[in-house]
Amino acid sequence: MKKELFDKWSNQYDQSVIEKGFPFSGYEKAIVNLIKSIRITHSTQVLEMGVGTGFLLSKFYQNGAQCYGFDFSDKMLAFAEEKMPSAFLFQHDLKQDIPEKIKRAKFSIILAGYVLHHFNLQEKIEIIRQYLSLLKKEDGRMYIFDVSFKTKEDHDLYREEHLDLWDDAESYFIAEEIKDHFENCEYKQFSLCGGLYTIS
Ligand SMILES: C[S@@+](CC[C@H](N)C(=O)[O-])C[C@H]1O[C@@H](n2cnc3c(N)ncnc32)[C@H](O)[C@@H]1O
Repeated sequence: MKKELFDKWSNQYDQSVIEKGFPFSGYEKAIVNLIKSIRITHSTQVLEMGVGTGFLLSKFYQNGAQCYGFDFSDKMLAFAEEKMPSAFLFQHDLKQDIPEKIKRAKFSIILAGYVLHHFNLQEKIEIIRQYLSLLKKEDGRMYIFDVSFKTKEDHDLYREEHLDLWDDAESYFIAEEIKDHFENCEYKQFSLCGGLYTIS
């Protein structure tokens, strides 16, 4: 999807996320459950790639974390800035290398919420690998929320049943294709079409 389409979507984005069904079904609840299950303090540094309006990152911000995020849509970023005035937010395209600004930083948590399905499998793996290098060695975690299915069969079945909503230009996650590329990767299906990857 092009930057201009995200710019246009920005003022209705938060409403779309809480609507039932494809693609965001179960997303908000999955975020709440994750936040409850981890310890967030003022020294927790969180980076989100494709931060959008800050729907996901702001939950960490509200819990006191130091928040960093980038997105290629300046309109999306403007909404994120309203939610998180003291976060470090900037414009950047994930197609480019890790931005100079954060290249030498280390994060406790790196998030990718519904952004990596704009990249094919090889690109996803490459981006994940690149950003894993920014995690703190001791206890860093990457959390990826996205449209995702356990198996190719589940993916194909869901597609058949939801052709009206499905976008063949997007590349949704299939856990069995991703998991083996990473040493420590856990997968949880949080709705019929949504999954959470935890990589350390
Ligand atoms: C569906 S929204 C998700 C926003 C947020 N991560 C969330 O979980 O609510 C996808 C976001 O990724 C951004 N995005 C898409 N492709 C991108 C790219 N190549 N580089 C940076 N941001 C991108 C869009 O502008 C949009 O804000």
